[in-house]
Amino acid sequence: MTNILLTGDRPTGKLHLGHYVGSLMRRIELQNKGDYEKFYIMIADTQALGDNSDNVAKIRESIMNVALDYLSVGLDPNKVTIFIQSQVPELTELTCYYMNVVTLARVLRNPTVKEEMAEKEKHGKSLPVGFALYPISQAADITAFGSNIVPVGEDQLPMIEQTREIVRAFNNLYGETLVEPNALLPEKKSRGRLVGIDGKNKMSKSLDNCIYLSDDAQTVKQKVMSMYTDPNHIKASDPGQVEGNTVFTYLDALATDEDIKKYSIEYDTLDQMKAHYSKGGLGDVKVKKVLVEVINNILEPFRQRRAYYEQRKDEVYNMLVEGGKKARKDAQHTLQKVRKAMGIDYSDLLK
Ligand code: TRP
Repeated sequence: MTNILLTGDRPTGKLHLGHYVGSLMRRIELQNKGDYEKFYIMIADTQALGDNSDNVAKIRESIMNVALDYLSVGLDPNKVTIFIQSQVPELTELTCYYMNVVTLARVLRNPTVKEEMAEKEKHGKSLPVGFALYPISQAADITAFGSNIVPVGEDQLPMIEQTREIVRAFNNLYGETLVEPNALLPEKKSRGRLVGIDGKNKMSKSLDNCIYLSDDAQTVKQKVMSMYTDPNHIKASDPGQVEGNTVFTYLDALATDEDIKKYSIEYDTLDQMKAHYSKGGLGDVKVKKVLVEVINNILEPFRQRRAYYEQRKDEVYNMLVEGGKKARKDAQHTLQKVRKAMGIDYSDLLK
């Protein structure tokens, strides 16, 4: 079986460490493994407009930022196709057809949509139709490219399930046409949703608790030093709690034992360091210093690549245009099949 991978992000800001741990690390691994025929990475501007129609400037700006983030972490346009969703109008057409093979009630029952809608309503915002229906457009994104593997975080599972239902409904009505996709979830729990530096919520721009992939070394240091740890670990000699301690959560997600050895000197493994912290005698500042080194060591090559591409935004722009053309060609092929299956290509109307 040849694998076709597709995933994406909404361009609503710069990408942060949460994106790196939860999805970008995995994408790099998949890219390097190369076990696929095609790998699409989509900047989902159409979807982002669903709750940002009054802030198109933010979306525009974020498209370049997200593209720079992709290139800085090492996604390689020779190996993956990076494109902007709205550059492939076939996706919109497909969304329209899918709207008729799923009920309104089913879409509104989607747990991710429900949660997001409740959140908006809490802030007194009424919701546009487009926002509520975005799982349908996500089904179009996935199926337009015949994608069978969708690497995502757990919060996206309801979208994949909904896509599978739409595929089955469509194939039942019009004959085997579309591919049913599977989600590819993070392997380890530590690679799931990363908490913010406040330790309470997920890392998110609106909560102002992010470490951005584009942060400089000094900013990373300040943020880590301000990080939430164990509130009962007051003196270094106190026994400390490792579970739910943000600094250790980050080390779990990001540090290898080699890193611990290199940056702490005293410990060979993260487990040894944790044991000392639990027992008492290891201060927060010491642990935080290790984490600063670990994060900056990861981000440094990203900063260098970003600086390179920031001087060459025309290249970045061209990559998006070329990616869009390639993606569009593939989506057009699917749309031809879809119209034919539905009996709406009309080329045979006179026969
Ligand atoms: N909904 C995804 C997010 O919020 C972005 C996205 C849009 C996506 N279309 C997709 C992800 C298709 C995977 C497949 O991050």
